[in-house]
Amino acid sequence: MTPPTARLLPVAALASLLALGLSAPCFAQAVSAPAQPTASAQPSVRYDIGYDIFYPVRAQNGMVASEHRLATEVGVATLKRGGNAVDAAVAVGFALAVVLPNAGNLGGGGFMIVHDAKSGRDVAIDFREMAPAKAFRDMYLDGQGKVVPDRSLYTHLAVGIPGTVAGLAHAQEKYGTLPLAEVIAPAIKLAREGYAVTPQLAGLLEVERDHLAAWGATRAVFFKAERPLRVGETLVQEDLAKSLELIAAQGAKAFYEGSIAEKIAAEMAKNNGFITADDLKSYKVVEREPVSGTYRGYTVKSMPPPSSGGVHIVQMLNILERYPLKELGAGSAQTIHLMAEAMKLAFADRSEYLGDPDFTKVPVKGLTARAYADELAAKIDPDKATPASTIKPGKPAPYESDQTTHFSVADSQGNVVSTTYTLNLNFGSGIVAEGTGILLNNEMDDFSAKPGVPNAFGLIGGDANAVQPFKRPLSSMSPTIVLKDGKPWLLTGSPGGSRIITTTLETVIDHIDFAMNPAEAAALPRVHHQWTPDELRVEKGLSPDTVKLLEQKGHKVAVKPTMGRTQTIQLRDDGLYGFSDPRNPDGMTAGY
Ligand code: DON
Repeated sequence: MTPPTARLLPVAALASLLALGLSAPCFAQAVSAPAQPTASAQPSVRYDIGYDIFYPVRAQNGMVASEHRLATEVGVATLKRGGNAVDAAVAVGFALAVVLPNAGNLGGGGFMIVHDAKSGRDVAIDFREMAPAKAFRDMYLDGQGKVVPDRSLYTHLAVGIPGTVAGLAHAQEKYGTLPLAEVIAPAIKLAREGYAVTPQLAGLLEVERDHLAAWGATRAVFFKAERPLRVGETLVQEDLAKSLELIAAQGAKAFYEGSIAEKIAAEMAKNNGFITADDLKSYKVVEREPVSGTYRGYTVKSMPPPSSGGVHIVQMLNILERYPLKELGAGSAQTIHLMAEAMKLAFADRSEYLGDPDFTKVPVKGLTARAYADELAAKIDPDKATPASTIKPGKPAPYESDQTTHFSVADSQGNVVSTTYTLNLNFGSGIVAEGTGILLNNEMDDFSAKPGVPNAFGLIGGDANAVQPFKRPLSSMSPTIVLKDGKPWLLTGSPGGSRIITTTLETVIDHIDFAMNPAEAAALPRVHHQWTPDELRVEKGLSPDTVKLLEQKGHKVAVKPTMGRTQTIQLRDDGLYGFSDPRNPDGMTAGY
């Protein structure tokens, strides 16, 4: 199987070329942003110049973008066999559980947005983990009310009831066309026959060595004697192959009520974990209405609560639509300033209002209303950064009654699927449930352990995201579909914790405002602000002149490691164009 593949130019060359081309100070200084675009404003630079500077992958019939070549190949083969986008997405989801063990999973959870071409309907499938019945608000605090380090990350108490198997099986049954066993088969083969460890995976195993070494069943999978597997060694996962075989034969029941459930419950009981056989049996997938907004004539559909992603992406787009970003230029200090100010306002609201909608009322309509965006935009000074300490959550209209992975799939009939799923941090809790080969998540850390105390991503929260039995922790995962004239035009999403929301926002803006293709958008240095800490985080490659201009406006700029790893597909009239983020060299986009 040799699909037409991925990238054509060295990544570093792409990034630095693009940085040079798009961050020159002349773009940045051209502006003192008018609150509204004026008809006479002339772009200082035109991006819709009719040619690409970097080339995305092109295909005519179907396309898959994922974080691992082997999973992408499984997806493309599924499409070629006549499967639709959902069949391929489910096949990719199961394959990633084998070949991307740091993020792909059976023991985690996630979200999927499906656009069904026949009905024109978009549906958001929520298979986020749930807190077990015994979970309680202060379960991560000690006797003095202090958060116990690592309890919500690397113990059996860190694990939420996994949703992935139920979510993938649900999508398959309702929107797929092939039998579940057929889409799981390639994952079983990969687990049983094994595959060569890539430098990327070897690096992650080394970084997480201590967390993984703590558990015998985990060592048995990922270690050779006393050390993690190295580059080029074969990773065989026989227990995982058996678990997948059970799911292929019995459906999701095998995981939630059958022998896999028994093994997970036994693992928990032995190690003071909370999850019981009854908890597993109680797990439920929920179909939700995607959060919807419009941006410069396009329709944006993204993940609703318990993700915060969709709400805040639409909220920020509502704010940013009033500024002439196209004229201000990609990567200019003024564009970055406006984005950062919108980000701060959105993340302040996140801390106050967002949580599981089945437990707490989330004012989705208020937060995504244009009138509210008017109010928020009025707080933005085009020349000066507002100190985060002076920003408080706003007052939207009252309530209406480091690992994750994203993959995007488009088929030849116009169906598309955008999925993000996760174990939370790399390899989740690091715990493999004995006898299953399944790594368990540490998603409980996405709850607010204590008001005001940041989680692993520096995010804070309060009541809306406090631990409660069967509640889903607040997420940032934002699988997104952008529609043009009612038809899918862009599929994207990313890992990266809190940075998922801003990475996805920037990707949408790069395509719409700056007429970039998926390769160009992926190569652009990213920026991120999440209100607390008061820091404008940027990637290497942003021009020093731009950084200086941002600092002059009062931003505290910090150059830090890369953010996000998008998997984007653009559906144009003349074909499919996709690209796997160069920030993970294992990723691959392919089609036919
Ligand atoms: O659901 C969330 O928002 C987080 N658990 C996602 C974690 C993540 O993206 C880690 N990857 N870099």
